[in-house]
Amino acid sequence: KKMIKKGIILSGGMGTRVGPSTKAISKQLIPIADKPIIFYSLSILMLLDIKNILIIVKADDISSYKKLLGNGKSFGIKISYIIQKSPKGLPDAFLLGKKFIDKKPVALILGDNFFHGQSLVELLKGVSKNFKSGANIFTYNVHNPQDYGVVESSKNSIQIVEKPKKTSSKKAITGLYFFDHNVSKLSKKLKRSKRNELEIVDLLKIYLVLKKLNITELGRGSAWLDTGTSRDIFRASNYVDIIQERQNQKVGCLEEIAFKKKWINKNLLRSRIKFYGKNEYSEYLIKILNEKI
Ligand code: DAU
Repeated sequence: KKMIKKGIILSGGMGTRVGPSTKAISKQLIPIADKPIIFYSLSILMLLDIKNILIIVKADDISSYKKLLGNGKSFGIKISYIIQKSPKGLPDAFLLGKKFIDKKPVALILGDNFFHGQSLVELLKGVSKNFKSGANIFTYNVHNPQDYGVVESSKNSIQIVEKPKKTSSKKAITGLYFFDHNVSKLSKKLKRSKRNELEIVDLLKIYLVLKKLNITELGRGSAWLDTGTSRDIFRASNYVDIIQERQNQKVGCLEEIAFKKKWINKNLLRSRIKFYGKNEYSEYLIKILNEKI
């Protein structure tokens, strides 16, 4: 069976709630623990064997992203970039990315989303393998569903609501979505909402009406963390730091993933170590380089 081969990382937005840093740099380049936030979403796509990736960024930030990630060669993947002039909403990714998508199934991940967990990648891979048409979303139970898109289900019906003031559901829609080849066409039909954005929930509702929306629950054994505010980032940093220190293994280390998948050879890994210079992240890569497999 074929898996989804293309991925989009939406990494624009103003990041206002994280300020003041985001006045000067892209939010998704601020670190969680020892690496930029975007490493974690990019690592999820790579773990799903998605090697053709489009990153959507603000005009001001494109040179920073290119400096850090380049064309993806360092990770054995292909990365291209598109500028989003203003944050028009999540489905704008499918309008800007129409050519990239080229009528193929595509995964969208928000550049500020953090996922982690033992069986998570296997679960996502399974969904990707069996993905034929429609859309697939992933929900996660949280105490503050009102801050997210929410899935509400009653006896025979399912409702999708963006940031409901009141809801009996705990099921937040996470920032990872799989869509079929129709996504750009359907996104074109969307109208701006009250907050003057194209809403991902409106797109999901179209798939729901077509009976083509599949919902997968991420269990409590996995983590989906928020990076909305500086405190969220601080807490996510603690989470990652504790795990990394305890296991002596890194979460979201792109070069490690690429090397272990044999997408890059030792020489490419060496040049990456040189690129980073002397720091703890590089020391980890040196350890990976010298490990006997
Ligand atoms: O994180 C999951 C949630 O993401 C979903 O549960 C919601 O249904 C969905 O609307 C979205 O909610 P947010 O309030 O988190 O969306 P926000 O506007 O903060 O955008 C999420 C990220 O996407 C943010 O880091 C910036 C980026 N972004 C956003 C928009 C609207 C862009 O790059 N371009 C955009 O046009």
